[in-house]
Amino acid sequence: MSKNLESTSMRDLLCASLRESDVGTQVSVCGWVAKRREHGEHLAFLDVRDHSGIIQAVVEGSVDVRSEYVVRVSGTVTRRPEGTVNDKLDTGSVELTDCVVEVLASAEPPPFQLDDRVDIDEQVRLRYRYLDLRREHMQRNLRLRAVVNGALRRAMDAQGFCEVETPLLWAPTPEGSREFVVPSRLQPGEFYVLPQSPQIAKQLLMVGGFDRYYQIARCMRDEDLRADRQFEFSQLDIEASFVDQDDVLGFVSVAVLDAAEAATGVRPDDIPSMTWTEALDRYGTDKPDLRFEMLLHDLSDVFAVTEVKAFSAPTVKAMRVRGGASFSRARLDELTDQAKGLGAKGLAWFRITADGLDSPLAKFLNETESAAVAAVDDAEVGDIVFCVADEYADACHVLGAIRTTLGSPPVGEGPHKYVWVTEFPLFEGVDENGNLQAAHHPFTMPHPDDMDLIETDPLKVRSRAYDLVLNGWELGSGSVRIHRADIQSRVFRALGISEEEAESRFGFLLGAFKYGAPPHAGFAFGIDRLVAIFAGEENIREVIAYPKTQSGADLMTGAPKGVSPKVMRELRITITPKGS
Ligand code: AMO
Repeated sequence: MSKNLESTSMRDLLCASLRESDVGTQVSVCGWVAKRREHGEHLAFLDVRDHSGIIQAVVEGSVDVRSEYVVRVSGTVTRRPEGTVNDKLDTGSVELTDCVVEVLASAEPPPFQLDDRVDIDEQVRLRYRYLDLRREHMQRNLRLRAVVNGALRRAMDAQGFCEVETPLLWAPTPEGSREFVVPSRLQPGEFYVLPQSPQIAKQLLMVGGFDRYYQIARCMRDEDLRADRQFEFSQLDIEASFVDQDDVLGFVSVAVLDAAEAATGVRPDDIPSMTWTEALDRYGTDKPDLRFEMLLHDLSDVFAVTEVKAFSAPTVKAMRVRGGASFSRARLDELTDQAKGLGAKGLAWFRITADGLDSPLAKFLNETESAAVAAVDDAEVGDIVFCVADEYADACHVLGAIRTTLGSPPVGEGPHKYVWVTEFPLFEGVDENGNLQAAHHPFTMPHPDDMDLIETDPLKVRSRAYDLVLNGWELGSGSVRIHRADIQSRVFRALGISEEEAESRFGFLLGAFKYGAPPHAGFAFGIDRLVAIFAGEENIREVIAYPKTQSGADLMTGAPKGVSPKVMRELRITITPKGS
């Protein structure tokens, strides 16, 4: 047996590395007792587990160990007797015999079985996360995450990027979520803000001459938690100078494809791209799931002068669902409710039958309209065609959501389909004060062809912002930044950000830009999301060592919780009663 990386002064190798070729050698392994089985009075079988897996140890004489005791077992690798080979274990053809068992630590019985095949309530898992982490699937997921991080670092290093760590105690950043604030003891009444991303710090690095920066950055956002959102998460954050959009897409693609290859063993094809307009038009969303077809079609022309009231809207979008004619009425009602919940007036459906369209609306359609509906996406008998009539964006969004409901497999299932979405609009809607909202953030460069529209038709302005989407999840976003004061002023003006407000929120950035800001662009993607998809998980909690629950609690530490009156006094914080 050759020495290996895993050997220490206490063990020779990992439990699951023993094979028939090791038969006859003397080894020591360390780990936890996964199971103990008695065989008569003076013979016990111990399954000893470390993160690699299990080896069976045959122990003669009495030994005082129980489940989850920490042990060091020294013995001889022996071929298992015929008929006792366990095909389910990598080490199933061997065992350790003549064992000496040393108890390194005793253990209370664990509150749940640490067997991956047993379903455990998540609250219990999170409360005892350190035990949950011993389970195979958490070991696999966190180690996969480390593999991904390693691949990302190597990819960025190889492309000449320099890793720089930016502060966690910081000032407000422009991502637009609610922020976590940290009271200052030395300056009572003043607060730091935990960064939602290193956005401003990295742009300042460009001014500082670090023309290729990256960081595996911790970001904090106080937003509602969901399957793909935690308060704390990690980004691969990058920024580069003297580059354009295509350079950034290239850098990020290399990193993501390298990570995918390291995680899955297969290098995905080059990442295709589509514009935001195409994504909305064909998929009804800026997060298109390319794992399945079911595209949206436009019937607006056909219904431009329709008599059918339900279809008299600027846009009519249609989608054919294969085999959908068999949907029950209850299923159709559910989908209609979903559409209405999203703001649509309704969801029209047409079953394609051998005798024509079957739908409560069918009799109102004229011949041309019926023919157009029946021909959507080459529909065939047995299919169903759904239609939504509304303003353009609403019709697209509603039908896009129905598409996702009907077609999207769980995010981690099936092939990994990446897509770049480019040319996002610069602004999205208006806030309660009637001010335009930045779709990405206020430093995003408008599309060079749309500069003139900033003042005249701002909602039509496209931007140099881009997203990377994987299986319908937004993996990351980025943009070419504004580095010119004149363009920045115009965008701030359009956003209703006064000069004073810009100065107080981003003064240090704008000030820095006066000293020579290179053209720059960047990107950040969520590592938690990427790893979750690689791991086939639906929730990013499964790839985070110590995540928060839906209500933002850390069940293991009890955080968030009060601090001592002394600390409160030092910070000069008093808590007012609820509701006051
Ligand atoms: P953005 O805000 O789009 O861009 O964030 C980039 C990516 O970070 C991940 N992400 C999250 N992951 C888990 N939990 C969350 N709460 C969460 N919020 C965001 C997503 C998202 O796509 N500074 C810009 C990037 C840039 O322009 O360079 C930024 O942070 O995967």
